[in-house]
Amino acid sequence: LDPETHTDQQRHDHAVLRLAAQVIATTQFPVGFPTETVYGLGANACSEAAVANIFYAKGRPADNPLIVHVSSLRMARSVSSDAAVLGEGESAGAGAGGRATYGALLKRHWPGPLSVLVPRCERQIPAIVTAGHGLVAVRLPAHPVARALIGLAQTPVAAPSANTSTRPSPTRASHVRDDLRGRLLLLIDGGDCDDGLESSVVDALRSATVPPELSPTSLQTTPTTAVIPHRIPPCLLRPGGISIEMLRKIKGFEDCVVWSPKLPSANKNDTIAPVTPGMKYKHYSPNVPLVLLESHQDETLYSKQQYREAISIAISARISAFLEKTPTKIITSPATIVILRTLSQSDFALNLPRSLPPQVTILQKSLGDSTAKVAHELFAALRDCETLYLNCLLVFIEGVAEADEGLAVMNRLRKAAGETIFFHE
Ligand code: TXA
Ligand code: MG
Repeated sequence: LDPETHTDQQRHDHAVLRLAAQVIATTQFPVGFPTETVYGLGANACSEAAVANIFYAKGRPADNPLIVHVSSLRMARSVSSDAAVLGEGESAGAGAGGRATYGALLKRHWPGPLSVLVPRCERQIPAIVTAGHGLVAVRLPAHPVARALIGLAQTPVAAPSANTSTRPSPTRASHVRDDLRGRLLLLIDGGDCDDGLESSVVDALRSATVPPELSPTSLQTTPTTAVIPHRIPPCLLRPGGISIEMLRKIKGFEDCVVWSPKLPSANKNDTIAPVTPGMKYKHYSPNVPLVLLESHQDETLYSKQQYREAISIAISARISAFLEKTPTKIITSPATIVILRTLSQSDFALNLPRSLPPQVTILQKSLGDSTAKVAHELFAALRDCETLYLNCLLVFIEGVAEADEGLAVMNRLRKAAGETIFFHE
């Protein structure tokens, strides 16, 4: 850095980045760093011991694989045993021989909030990273700090979200500190994350999970079995920063499906369901009881007024039931019930049959007037309920329609909530 043209702050930032990169490149300690989605907890993806420390620091189950972060397409190729799937010289969703590639998708959405599953290069990436799976998730983040850090470390960086397992993902450096204090050597504060929800995880190679008895080599030994390869549509395993609508605009991804437990397996003989292992765990949960309000009908079928009435009745009934079960004398200190509105613009008019005990306050708060703003605020708002409001007894959150960012928001909320109320039945 040129002392003439760079400020003290820039020189300081660069020194921090170099130090963090050195920690990743030369030690086995994880480092906290910002990305455009959420904060990551990163370590050298090529070192089994460093990756083991990530699992340990987070308390993460060993069967939930990590995303490998890279700073260039070249580094992404080094992680894959088949560089062509990343679109070497290809631009379409289907490459030579009808084989799926991510070329067109990455051209449009990398760097960015998108992780793609590619065959793992066993020489580079130890099995611990993918929990033994043959495919490894790779992401080229857009955040300048993340890119510079990985570039300076000169190694792919395995990084889950930098929260303790089961907690909401961190969107501010303070969230990482709250969860992982004493468990990481260094944390780079890059301010609030732009997106607020994690990357989309996409698998276009689902047919690659065919069991060995169906692999092309074994088929060659039984030439009488004519196998007509059929195309298996790509699958969005975890909705995130790149929406399903955006994915379907890409050539080769027009028929991309959203993973659900009901989805048939990619191959009838496939024993491995197309599942992202993280899905089976408790996730994103704050340390306060969270109630998700889901509207049961197509919202277009009833008016805004009807919707507001129905949701207000549902909240009022739930608060009344709570107060019934919790006698006033048990709530000895000042306490709060929080209602997080998403797309509704003004407070819900509650109608509580019994008056509130004087020590209980109901607080209504808006997360924003678009699903993008809600996505940005969501995790921070859940964590605020634990720390900002006095003795938070109950938190309600209004669901959103599952279009655009709304699909990812509802995916997180359904996992975070301990209880769901369907209203307007
Ligand atoms: O935005 C993000 O993706 C953030 C930032 C730090 O980049 N990272 C993140 O990582 O959210 P994590 O570990 O919290 O979530 C990774 C998700 C999990 O649901 C995991 O099961 C899935 O990706 N995943 C990772 N590798 C996979 C693989 N090889 N096969 C299937 N799913 C995989
Ligand atoms: Mg996570």
